[in-house]
Amino acid sequence: MAAQSRQIQLDVNELPRHWYNIIPDLPEPLPPPLDPDTGPSRVAQLPKLLIGACLAQEMSGERWIPVPEGLRELYFQAGRPRPLFRALSLEKALGTPARMYYKAEFYSPTGSHKVNTALAQAYYAREEGFERLTTETGAGQWGTALAYAAALTGLKCTVYWVRAVHRWKPDRLGFMQMLGADVHASPSDRTAFGRSLYEQDPEHPGSLGIAISEGLEDAQGDPKAAYSLGSVLNHVLMHQTIIGLETQKQFEKAGDYPDVMIACLGGGSNFGGFALPFVGDVLTKGKKIRFVAAQSQAAPNLQGEYRYDFADHAEITPLLKMYTLGHTARLQPIKGDGLRYHGCSPILSLLRHLGYIDTVAYPADEKHVFAHALTFVRTEGFLPAPESAYAVCCAIDEALKCKESGEAKVIAFNISGHGFMDIAGYREVLGFGAGDLHKPAPRPILGI
Ligand SMILES: Cc1ncc(COP(=O)(O)O)c(C=O)c1O
Repeated sequence: MAAQSRQIQLDVNELPRHWYNIIPDLPEPLPPPLDPDTGPSRVAQLPKLLIGACLAQEMSGERWIPVPEGLRELYFQAGRPRPLFRALSLEKALGTPARMYYKAEFYSPTGSHKVNTALAQAYYAREEGFERLTTETGAGQWGTALAYAAALTGLKCTVYWVRAVHRWKPDRLGFMQMLGADVHASPSDRTAFGRSLYEQDPEHPGSLGIAISEGLEDAQGDPKAAYSLGSVLNHVLMHQTIIGLETQKQFEKAGDYPDVMIACLGGGSNFGGFALPFVGDVLTKGKKIRFVAAQSQAAPNLQGEYRYDFADHAEITPLLKMYTLGHTARLQPIKGDGLRYHGCSPILSLLRHLGYIDTVAYPADEKHVFAHALTFVRTEGFLPAPESAYAVCCAIDEALKCKESGEAKVIAFNISGHGFMDIAGYREVLGFGAGDLHKPAPRPILGI
């Protein structure tokens, strides 16, 4: 039976030729970016900072936007399409009647889904004559993806990396440098805003909001540079819909359809990319799916307030209508630090506001999340990134609920990245090998 096969693959010719732009299908108009009451117009600044094609896509009313041929080539080079796996070994170990499927965004040259928009943004930036891209990164996955995309398109790349993470991922730093990027721990002494924080506290842990401000300030001072954002914005989520569009075709091949869809959520790009084509099915075809965003209690942005707020700490961006914890909130560093962002994408925020998206926030000590990731590692054999471990954990929790209720639900989850460069984080939280590298990892809580 097709639904029983472990791997559902697409042929290269089946790579989607268009991205899905959900804006025209939203039940209500998306609130636009606004300027604050005081200071210069942030909205008017955008064309000087962002790549023109991306800005045009940001508010486009077109439902389907073509993926340029040259970019399709780059997607092939990066190994797309990516498989959808049926988690038969995990299902068996859990003893659940649920059918579990995971999308393998970890089959990525740099380790995550972030290449999907990095390649698009670098492609358009080169077309428009930019020579350098500046950016922020939290987990380091986005910085690596942009460094990779810049290398492939012949651009320079400057990355401001949240210091709390930069500190414990020397191999990822090395990877970005091998790709030719110029990387700075943020807050840095390279920008006026960074210096204002760095001089007060050279050990400042930083935040995505601060790193975004530094990347923006850097691009503002160089007409040959454009700023690239790795999440939150409409065009970023749209580039990421390549994930969900492939997944739709794969479910068709499997003869199945999800009841529950799960992804981790920081700014919202892998959640949006995976879920939005299916949200489109719910909005326009009467399908019923429960969408769950897996978050950390360190940054449960979808449980914050729905209001206008800045996307960065220094208030360089326009105000976006989103669920937010406040753009200057100090959020506790975690190992899944890519989830530590104060706000959520405006598109997903509107959908949450209208009741289409649920959220679960796991304890910030990450023990429950990483213990479930261990169950996944020992059954399916792939190592999720710490951020993706939240999606894995939520999928396992849902499957265990099915075990109790006897329901054979179809659970689809996105594994946004691999954790090959994040083992130090797992080691610290799970308490293996710390001090004595031969100390074995614990048994997963499910006893597998
Ligand atoms: C592997 C991985 N997954 C998820 C995220 C969260 O970002 P987003 O919500 O934009 O997908 C990050 C962010 O750095 C990441 O590195």
